[in-house]
Amino acid sequence: MKRTRFDRLAQEWDLKPERVKSAKNVSEKLNELFDLEQMKILDYGAGTGLVSFDLCEKAHHVIAMDNAKKMLEEIDKKANNAGIDNVYTRYHDINKEALPKAQFDLFISSMTMHHIEDTKAFLEKAKASLVEGGYVAINDLEREDGTFHSMGNDDVAHFGFEKEDLRVLFEEVGLEVVYFETVEVISKEKDYPIFLIVGKNV
Ligand SMILES: C[S@@+](CC[C@H](N)C(=O)[O-])C[C@H]1O[C@@H](n2cnc3c(N)ncnc32)[C@H](O)[C@@H]1O
Repeated sequence: MKRTRFDRLAQEWDLKPERVKSAKNVSEKLNELFDLEQMKILDYGAGTGLVSFDLCEKAHHVIAMDNAKKMLEEIDKKANNAGIDNVYTRYHDINKEALPKAQFDLFISSMTMHHIEDTKAFLEKAKASLVEGGYVAINDLEREDGTFHSMGNDDVAHFGFEKEDLRVLFEEVGLEVVYFETVEVISKEKDYPIFLIVGKNV
């Protein structure tokens, strides 16, 4: 199990307010869009579980997957400390493995897809993990110029995404786009718009 940059960042991940704000923002949007009550949710590239812990309040359960073991340890610690018993962690590397089939009502992945080289394979695996009528929700950077990651682009596979390309890709893999908006702008030296796209498994 190779240690990644995210393993090194795990303990300080939640100290950056924009990360917490961004996760809160997407969770609130998902709460508006869906009746999360009793949903079985997969949070992919869950990191320290910022989104998982927001969604688990209503959901039946959340499986938090990541290929950084230290991130998952942070989730387990937080769940233990808060007495939360419906967030489960699973080590998983999407580049190497398939996902469990037809298990989830909602697949959410926040700020992770730009780290995954093969976007189409990622979306195909996400779709296959859903029950019929389930949803894939991706929250990530719109096309940027490579300046978003101040610590360098070593593990960055995409400088954000062209929105129209992504819409086409969703439809190609059989996800009907039911929502696609810019939901946030992260302001650093420049502004970086963040989209939320939701596709239905039809
Ligand atoms: C930018 S962080 C986002 C974390 C969290 N979703 C959030 O919003 O705070 C990206 C996450 O994706 C995970 N990740 C990157 N490549 C991955 C892969 N191939 N398989 C599984 N997880 C991966 C990283 O370990 C990291 O936790």
